[in-house]
Amino acid sequence: MTGATPIGIHDLRVATGAHVVELSELADTQGIDPNKFLVGLGQQQFSMPAHDEDIVTMAAAATAPLIEKHGLDGIRTIFFATESGVDQSKSAGAFLHALLGLPTGIRVVELKQACYGATAGLQAAIGLIARDPRERVLVIASDVARYDLDSAGEPTQGAGAVAMLISADPALIEIEAPAGIHTTDIDDFWRPNDRSTALVDGKLSIQAYLASLTGSFDDYRARGGAEADTLASVLMHQPFTKMAAKGIKALSAHTGVELPDITPTMEYNRRMGNSYTASIFVALVSLLDADAELAGRRIGFYSYGSGSIGEFFSGIVQPGYRELRAAEDVPAMLAAREPLAIADYRELHETTEFASDRDIVLPVTTSAPFRLAGVTGGARDYTATAV
Ligand code: CAA
Repeated sequence: MTGATPIGIHDLRVATGAHVVELSELADTQGIDPNKFLVGLGQQQFSMPAHDEDIVTMAAAATAPLIEKHGLDGIRTIFFATESGVDQSKSAGAFLHALLGLPTGIRVVELKQACYGATAGLQAAIGLIARDPRERVLVIASDVARYDLDSAGEPTQGAGAVAMLISADPALIEIEAPAGIHTTDIDDFWRPNDRSTALVDGKLSIQAYLASLTGSFDDYRARGGAEADTLASVLMHQPFTKMAAKGIKALSAHTGVELPDITPTMEYNRRMGNSYTASIFVALVSLLDADAELAGRRIGFYSYGSGSIGEFFSGIVQPGYRELRAAEDVPAMLAAREPLAIADYRELHETTEFASDRDIVLPVTTSAPFRLAGVTGGARDYTATAV
């Protein structure tokens, strides 16, 4: 337990892009057996933002209902985690701050370390709240995973955002104090500043993910973390869901404990694809929505960001969590995405990025509550769709 003041995730919301691509169709057009993607990678679809959506609009769509429900009292910090930032200097959270009409007394910072950034935000938020339990912190993870067309990474693309309200006496998950960390400098996956798509050494990235998993778990145990046999489930970063399956198998072998089946953590990521920083928290929502017997149970979290940092930590699911989760319907959101034919997906993939040296007005495509309206004088213009 975290001591006198339990701190953790009070509530959270998910958003994704307007479009969906079927991996069986992608496989067909590439002359690949669809089971390579469906079974071999454990992925069924991936989300793709419309031309007038990006990490800011998805983040705003996830955050607005949280603020509407819980208000702004005590919120003085927003950590916006992403590895697909829209500006080299200005935090994506600054755009979000304006879009949601937030007050000036909130510090807004962008955090980056590949898919790990939101976990750093969560731990930093806990530190701020431990100092003053009246504070609450918004931790937002939002990403668009993009690889080159026809590359091995292409079927592991995706898009999504999770907004989390971190507070004392959380209603959803109390985060326990011990955390295990494993950091190395490795070129397994990265994106140079002049590229909009990631570079990856796929096989090395899988090895690095697994080495960091066992390394961070050992550090978690050494720091007082719980025995493996007390874990009711383990949430893994899910670049593709088969990676999480490989992870749980490796951790079972490493600990000598037959860890639980983690299939219930995978349902939403199978359909959203890789949402990088958001992925592990999408797995959390998937688990909470699938399993009604978790109150009082401990779940493990393995957060991995290439480059690389792995962190293993744990949390206790709070009584009443099911009532909170009933407030949102992720399957309905996923079902509402507009399917893209492969030719249309390929065209959108190639035209998503804009140069900043000319003004652009984007046509309205998305039906999401917030949109990217265009670029003026090199700066992005965002708007609420109702406006
Ligand atoms: N039916 C069923 N399974 C099939 C099959 C078929 N017809 N054909 C192939 N498979 C299986 C393969 O056996 C393999 O499974 P195993 O790994 O369990 O053996 C699986 O499908 C994938 O096949 P390949 O290894 O041949 O696939 P690939 O080399 O073309 O690409 C990949 C796989 C390297 C993961 C690639 O998609 C990639 O580079 N993805 C991006 C990088 C990534 O996600 N790395 C994960 C760790 S890094 C991380 O977690 C950070 C992050 O978010 C990026």
